[in-house]
Amino acid sequence: MFPEILWAVPPAAAAVPLSAAAWHHWSPTTWSYGPGLVGSALRVHLTWEDVAQGCGLSYTRRKTQVKGGVRRVSVQKKPRLRRFRPTPYGFRVRARLHDGQTPEDYQEALTRLAHAWRVDAVRIRTSGPGWVELVASRRDPLSTVTNAAPLAPDWELLKVRMGTLETGDPWIIDFRAVPHWLIMGATQSGKSTDINALVYQLAPQPVALAGLDLKGGVELTPYARRMSKLATTRTECVVLLDDLMAMLNDRMTLCREAGVRNIWQLPETDRPMPVVTVVDEVAELYLMTDKSEKDEIARTSTLLLRNAQLGRAFGLHLVIAGQRVGSDLGPGVTALRSQITGRICHRVNDGETAKMALGDLAPDSLSAAMRIPAEMPGVAVTVGADGRWYRGRSDLTTEEMAEQASAEYAHMAPDWDLLVSGRTKEKETVPADAVDWDRLEEEMS
Ligand SMILES: Nc1ncnc2c1ncn2[C@@H]1O[C@H](COP(=O)(O)OP(=O)(O)OP(=O)(O)O)[C@@H](O)[C@H]1O
Ligand SMILES: [Mg+2]
Repeated sequence: MFPEILWAVPPAAAAVPLSAAAWHHWSPTTWSYGPGLVGSALRVHLTWEDVAQGCGLSYTRRKTQVKGGVRRVSVQKKPRLRRFRPTPYGFRVRARLHDGQTPEDYQEALTRLAHAWRVDAVRIRTSGPGWVELVASRRDPLSTVTNAAPLAPDWELLKVRMGTLETGDPWIIDFRAVPHWLIMGATQSGKSTDINALVYQLAPQPVALAGLDLKGGVELTPYARRMSKLATTRTECVVLLDDLMAMLNDRMTLCREAGVRNIWQLPETDRPMPVVTVVDEVAELYLMTDKSEKDEIARTSTLLLRNAQLGRAFGLHLVIAGQRVGSDLGPGVTALRSQITGRICHRVNDGETAKMALGDLAPDSLSAAMRIPAEMPGVAVTVGADGRWYRGRSDLTTEEMAEQASAEYAHMAPDWDLLVSGRTKEKETVPADAVDWDRLEEEMS
């Protein structure tokens, strides 16, 4: 007779995949630490030989085979995998580089690995000598919005936490490692939010802030109380940049006399305060509405470039935001861009803009930059200290937060005139025609 218990088998069999689907749907994180992880581990390890071969990561070596007569045959050797670990979004695993391989070999294979492992994306996190760590994410970890954390009392000088990288690591801007930053993106892509984050987190630090805002001052005026100087007209911009040049000359002299190469080697008591100058919508500095502005534009361009070239060692940092930094704005722009090694590229409208932001430093990041969706403001591709590119999403720092921090720490803003008058010699002016633009462009390209 048919045992009655067997009637329970079909519903039970149906319940297993249904519960699994529900589990996966309602709690992807716990799923990814449980069955998802076991499935991924099995898939990665069992298919690794074929996957490594298909991705061109194996190497061919000659081996003597005795079976059926002694002869030399070619065999494919797969890289060793170690330390398979879960992450909130997927898993990570380390791969041993074969002799002659570099992390770039893996960089080229990442899309293929993502398909083979049935995940959304695979990235390289860190690579010690001889190893790469591959981080696989099942879903885009940047899809959630994170609000900026309250200001912590334990800040590190000139370090700002912008948000989180796709790898799960914090996205940090460290001005001492990368002195100048270019933030590019279409309108509403998240540029001003980055500036909010910078103002918000630098406000409690012993750092002077200055701003150039030719959008009538609407972007940076809310932070004027924490800024030692804010320029909102073309003439004010020239004056501000002239002051920075004077500071630069002064700090150069100071370092030369002390026999050191940069201000960080000076004793703390003699060290001048770092200055972070923020430019919102850089195109406004270069666009001419009237011929009479020509000289001022040329001068602004020269001074900005000088600051970018020489400011690093002397604690004079630039953050330049804009929708475009193409040569159509003027000859100085391309030269300026090539001096700025920190890059943040938010959503852009065309490949040309992505190329301007990232093309010279990380050409393989362009397609990632082009694929940033409009409904994910704050997502960006960034290139920083290690020269690699990463996808990340900024934490949402609102204008109100930055404005409030500016008011709270207004007393931290040093007096601009005192900061400038620390100079030891007369203000040195740089004539607009001091730079041979054609030669400079040629050198930079
Ligand atoms: N990291 C983020 N997470 C969620 N929302 C964000 C993030 N960054 C920016 N936004 C939202 O996107 C919108 C546009 O941001 P933002 O003003 O920074 O863009 P923008 O590039 O400066 O634009 P514009 O060129 O018009 O000045 C804002 O409403 C902001 O709240
Ligand atoms: Mg803006």
